[in-house]
Amino acid sequence: MSETKMIELVGVKKSFGHLEVLKDITLSVDKGSVVALIGPSGSGKSTLLRSINLLTVPDEGFIRVGDHAKDFSKPYSVPRDRELAAFRARTGMVFQSFNLFPHMSVEENVMEGPVTVLGVAKAEARIQARELLAKVGLADKAQARPDSLSGGQKQRVAIARALAMKPEVMLFDEATSALDPELVGEVLAVVRSLAAEGMTMLLVTHEMAFARDVADRVIFMRDGCVVEEGPARQVIENPSHPATQSFLSHFHGGLGLP
Ligand SMILES: Nc1ncnc2c1ncn2[C@@H]1O[C@H](COP(=O)(O)OP(=O)(O)O)[C@@H](O)[C@H]1O
Ligand SMILES: [Mg+2]
Repeated sequence: MSETKMIELVGVKKSFGHLEVLKDITLSVDKGSVVALIGPSGSGKSTLLRSINLLTVPDEGFIRVGDHAKDFSKPYSVPRDRELAAFRARTGMVFQSFNLFPHMSVEENVMEGPVTVLGVAKAEARIQARELLAKVGLADKAQARPDSLSGGQKQRVAIARALAMKPEVMLFDEATSALDPELVGEVLAVVRSLAAEGMTMLLVTHEMAFARDVADRVIFMRDGCVVEEGPARQVIENPSHPATQSFLSHFHGGLGLP
């Protein structure tokens, strides 16, 4: 096992009924690096991310996050709750929808996981929540209710909430897709600051310029397969596979490319 790889998938397969959604996925994310996962809708990107923290259980293959690994090709066994919990504790996940608790303040939303799952004392969780809210630029919103926030602010709370669990890796699934265009930048700025701090991240995104500028590597997926993978700038600006070229041609207007 390579110590430079923080996330490793080998030969991961997943079907829903007759639909083969992940065909044979092998990929890795180096510790402290950022990988952007791009590809058309329905190509299996969300299923891939969900497999990494076992929200979806693969049919076959090997998955490792940090020093927790599971081989699904061994005589099949559904992971037990404790094993699932150990896996999930490693990864923070941020979705398109924020899923904040509406009846709790912003600060209480960020405290909830550490207090109920990790058993952190409330006073300590509150201090940590305030630090995290300051980090995502929302120190002044600690006492606010989620419904009083903009979409960009809610998504920054969701990021703070994921970070409160002290994950080893962060997974983002189209975290900015539901936002009004003028709110995308503030969320991407937080992702960028996490990258600068050395957080290992795998992000599904349609923000191609962001993928090019912030990710170290880009993976293009189509129909449940990794079609092309390489350094971010190379894949985005000079893709070698015709399918990648075709997919990216839809974005070039927004890429600011010559
Ligand atoms: N729980 C599920 N049950 C049945 N089909 C699913 C399920 N989740 C995803 N799919 C199907 O798997 C395919 C890939 O979905 P998804 O991973 O969400 O792709 P992407 O995120 O790239 O758009 C789609 O055809 C989708 O309808
Ligand atoms: Mg998706």
